[in-house]
Amino acid sequence: MPVLAALRDRLGDGALEGRKLAVVVHLEAKTACLVLALQEAGAHVVAAGSNPLSTQDAVCAALVERGIEVHARHGVSQDEFTADLLAVAETGPELVIDDGLELTRRTAEHRPDLYERLQGVSEETTTGVARLRALEAEGRLPFPAIAANDAKCKHMFDNPYGTGQTTLTALLALTNVLAAGREFCIVGYGWVGKGLARAADGLGGRVTVVELDPVRALTAHMDGYRVASLADALPDADVVITATGLIEAIGADAFAYLKDGALLANAGHHDREIDVPALAAEADEVIDARPKVKTYVLGNRRVHVLVDGALVNIAGGDGNPIEIMDLSFSVQALSAHLLASGGVPAGLNRFPDELDDLIARTKLATLGIELDDPTAAQLKFRASWAV
Ligand SMILES: NC(=O)c1ccc[n+]([C@@H]2O[C@H](COP(=O)([O-])OP(=O)(O)OC[C@H]3O[C@@H](n4cnc5c(N)ncnc54)[C@H](O)[C@@H]3O)[C@@H](O)[C@H]2O)c1
Repeated sequence: MPVLAALRDRLGDGALEGRKLAVVVHLEAKTACLVLALQEAGAHVVAAGSNPLSTQDAVCAALVERGIEVHARHGVSQDEFTADLLAVAETGPELVIDDGLELTRRTAEHRPDLYERLQGVSEETTTGVARLRALEAEGRLPFPAIAANDAKCKHMFDNPYGTGQTTLTALLALTNVLAAGREFCIVGYGWVGKGLARAADGLGGRVTVVELDPVRALTAHMDGYRVASLADALPDADVVITATGLIEAIGADAFAYLKDGALLANAGHHDREIDVPALAAEADEVIDARPKVKTYVLGNRRVHVLVDGALVNIAGGDGNPIEIMDLSFSVQALSAHLLASGGVPAGLNRFPDELDDLIARTKLATLGIELDDPTAAQLKFRASWAV
């Protein structure tokens, strides 16, 4: 992670020294690098995962060996997951790097006394930023929060390029099917859906997009994809991938449209985009078909669900590539550093443009790419209204 490494001096300037910091992000190797960078900057870090299915126990053990307090185990129940997160809250973190707002929202719900004491939250993903907005709308955001997901160096790279590639590679590795010539249905054409469509198209798949937002649906059309309603798209779909950030994108009403042999996978934050419990209730039989692939028999049709509907690229693969997480976690580390430095107002804040520029310039430098500066005449033209 050369970008994160290049930020070492800035992160270690004393702002994070002795600060209690919780990191609640998918606990795999790249997250461990973020945790160790923050520890090196002087923070007392406590870590937990943001989804029990993506937690890697070996990574937890490696962090414990390096002196980090970890509350996470792979594959635990939702109740045990909540208990682990409340154990993190119990340590009294001042600052939180959160994913899906999993720690912050549980603290608000179960430990309002500890919630009041939070001094800053930096949020990793689209779903968590939406939850922060909902808290703010209810007047329940008394501390500064930063929408790290909305940083340019996060959502413009991680969501489309990282998740687009790794969702497809995980899906193909878990099933060993050929992408070329297959019909893909992408549900949700946001930053992630855009990347999924491009990755499927690049592998020779034929892509249909299902979107609710008219502007995004039109964008998908102009990007060259078929756009259809769910009822029209599903009967043709060999592979259905959800990336809406909401629940029941493939709900009980949709099961009747699914083709025999359809593969269902999710790239969104929740395990609830595909209504797996409703599918199980409707199925005549559920078969463990392959590791992390379950087959649901619906009369004379069979549909296959990957990793129980959890985010397939992380729970069914190794997550986003290290080059992507170097950018995303540089955003998170600088965001935590900014919160620790003080001066960020209460409520939801944007990630500053100058820090986005710093990360992008640092990344370009590691690639050996140099940029020109605008000329004095160009700067003058840009700043004036008279031509
Ligand atoms: N797996 C990963 O590694 C990874 C990485 C980044 C983000 N995410 C998650 O992926 C999800 C999507 O993120 P994003 O940045 O693309 O969000 P986004 O808000 O940009 O896009 C979501 C899109 O889905 C559409 N949508 C909502 N409900 C729908 C429905 N029922 N049918 C069709 N379309 C629907 C919305 O109109 C929107 O255009 C979020 O949960 C985010 O947290 C996952």
